[in-house]
Amino acid sequence: MAPSIVSVAALAVLLSPAIPNILALAQLTAGCTTNSFTVPSWLIEDFESTGTTVQFQALNRAINTSAQVSCQASRDTATWQGCTTTGNNSSLLASVQLEAAVVRIRVNETWVCNDLTPSRPLNFAAQGEGSLPITCNGDACTPSTTNPVLIKSTLSSPFPLSPSTVPGPSGHDKEGCAAGSRSPSWEIFSTQLNLRNVSGKIEGGNAFIQLRNTVTDYRASCFGTLTGTAPATLQCSAQTAGRPRAPKYNINTVLTFSPGSFVLSVNETWFCDDANPAQPVEIFGVGTARLPLECSAVGETTTYCAGDPATFPGRLISEKPIPPFSLGDPLPTAPSCTISSVVSPSWRFSDFETIVTSGSSLGSIRFGMELNTGAAFTGYPSTFFRSGVPVSANTTEGGSGAWYPCVLESVGEQNLTPTACAFRFEAAMQSLALSADWRCSDLDASRPVSFTGDLRTTVPSLTCSTTGGRTRCATAPGQAWAANVTSVYWGN
Ligand SMILES: *[C@@H]1O[C@H](CO)[C@@H](O)[C@H](O)[C@H]1NC(C)=O
Ligand SMILES: *[C@@H]1O[C@H](CO)[C@@H](O)[C@H](O)[C@H]1NC(C)=O
Ligand SMILES: *[C@@H]1O[C@H](CO)[C@@H](O)[C@H](O)[C@H]1NC(C)=O
Ligand SMILES: *[C@@H]1O[C@H](CO)[C@@H](O)[C@H](O)[C@H]1NC(C)=O
Ligand SMILES: *[C@@H]1O[C@H](CO)[C@@H](O)[C@H](O)[C@H]1NC(C)=O
Ligand SMILES: *[C@@H]1O[C@H](CO)[C@@H](O)[C@H](O)[C@H]1NC(C)=O
Ligand SMILES: *[C@@H]1O[C@H](CO)[C@@H](O)[C@H](O)[C@H]1NC(C)=O
Ligand SMILES: *[C@@H]1O[C@H](CO)[C@@H](O)[C@H](O)[C@H]1NC(C)=O
Repeated sequence: MAPSIVSVAALAVLLSPAIPNILALAQLTAGCTTNSFTVPSWLIEDFESTGTTVQFQALNRAINTSAQVSCQASRDTATWQGCTTTGNNSSLLASVQLEAAVVRIRVNETWVCNDLTPSRPLNFAAQGEGSLPITCNGDACTPSTTNPVLIKSTLSSPFPLSPSTVPGPSGHDKEGCAAGSRSPSWEIFSTQLNLRNVSGKIEGGNAFIQLRNTVTDYRASCFGTLTGTAPATLQCSAQTAGRPRAPKYNINTVLTFSPGSFVLSVNETWFCDDANPAQPVEIFGVGTARLPLECSAVGETTTYCAGDPATFPGRLISEKPIPPFSLGDPLPTAPSCTISSVVSPSWRFSDFETIVTSGSSLGSIRFGMELNTGAAFTGYPSTFFRSGVPVSANTTEGGSGAWYPCVLESVGEQNLTPTACAFRFEAAMQSLALSADWRCSDLDASRPVSFTGDLRTTVPSLTCSTTGGRTRCATAPGQAWAANVTSVYWGN
């Protein structure tokens, strides 16, 4: 194999996928409100049917409450027959159709969340329909599966929404995932070592190793710097072009490599639900191998090592059940455009400036803004520009107080930009009032939610400079400030 040198800088570039902001800052704040927007659904459990009676438990997955449902249903009719519900204050309504080989179930439920909005409880209403295969012997019917059945719902309140599912972690539904994971193996398909080798003594270097879990086909790229012959931990990241998942049920790979012996240890966590989406598992596996590497000197003190692809067996350490159907669930992440807009809508302003020429009381105004989702300021606000606006404190009555439609000058983060706005600037008070419309489609791309709301904010201290009869007043470069939207309205 021809030796070639890969610089550390080049490896670092290879290994730093563009991670969206949301990943770096997302926090799992799974609670009533977040769960209700992301996983409104029911699990139908403990189904029983004899004669004309059907009974089951309906567990609301958003709020983790269960209702006992009992229905009187005649067989093989095409009409929905209502059920009665007993539970802890349950507002769940259900109806069923009992057919020869299937029972169809419709569920309705309303509930209230105030975990994120204590002074403004949010009313949720959800509807869904699903079916459960049954096997009947005379009058006695039993479910054809012992698994719970998932009924996904559509929200009708606070606004119509069907949260989109997300692709599960790599390989989770690949045929043989669960069974094959009992005897996992990894293929090392690329290894590159650059060793600082001073008279036979390894003093440092770097290692770049790529491997594939043969059960899930998940590929990871791992990189680390080496210090002497001590075992080094390599950082691994997914080798996929697609968008990384939000931080839940992520595949995690840790490699430990000993430059002295070329012994590699893999410790990986992955997920399978191919055998049964109602019983997903998290899998912990490890493996150790001595890599068959060939080394050659490429200079006084540098040795380069590489190896042909090699597969080595690992072993299963443990398997942990995770909640039913959870690998395909929409992810309860904050910040979310929709959830932030409902819970605490706010805009972040920056780059405010006014320019006025001497002898005129009207000038131009420019400001940057982006929706504040709780994530860090992107640094790429959209900017609005407008001339012929009263910007000086000496402005006469009448000029001040008028509303001006915003004119978009440049778009930063499209999803965080208002779809329309109007503003009013009272120069004497440095007070900016704004009325904005915006849209969120992060939870349900097919049905964006529209928001509208007003705010008033005081522009932080401006620094002015005059050159050639032109006075420019501006906030400090990079300074951003947030302003809460008072009164927000939403709808589709
Ligand atoms: C849901 O409720 C059950 C029993 O009511 C409880 O054991 C379980 O821990 C709860 N799960 C969560 C996620 O709160
Ligand atoms: C209602 O709540 C009580 C105690 O909180 C619990 O023991 C019972 O199982 C609940 N019933 C249902 C149907 O969820
Ligand atoms: C039932 O509702 C009442 C009032 O709405 C409330 O005080 C009580 O705590 C609720 N009980 C349960 C078990 O949720
Ligand atoms: C659920 O609610 C909708 C609208 O409120 C209604 O049309 C439907 O009949 C309800 N379904 C059940 C099972 O109660
Ligand atoms: C380091 O260099 C020496 C020659 O100076 C060579 O014999 C040895 O194999 C090299 N070590 C590695 C790990 O390649
Ligand atoms: C593998 O990593 C997990 C944490 O991800 C750790 O708890 C476990 O001890 C590690 N196992 C080995 C054999 O290194
Ligand atoms: C804006 O809203 C946040 C969250 O609702 C709150 O913590 C903060 O105090 C509010 N800021 C102002 C200036 O009202
Ligand atoms: C505003 O008015 C004051 C006094 O009337 C004057 O000194 C100042 O130059 C004026 N400023 C501008 C920007 O016109």
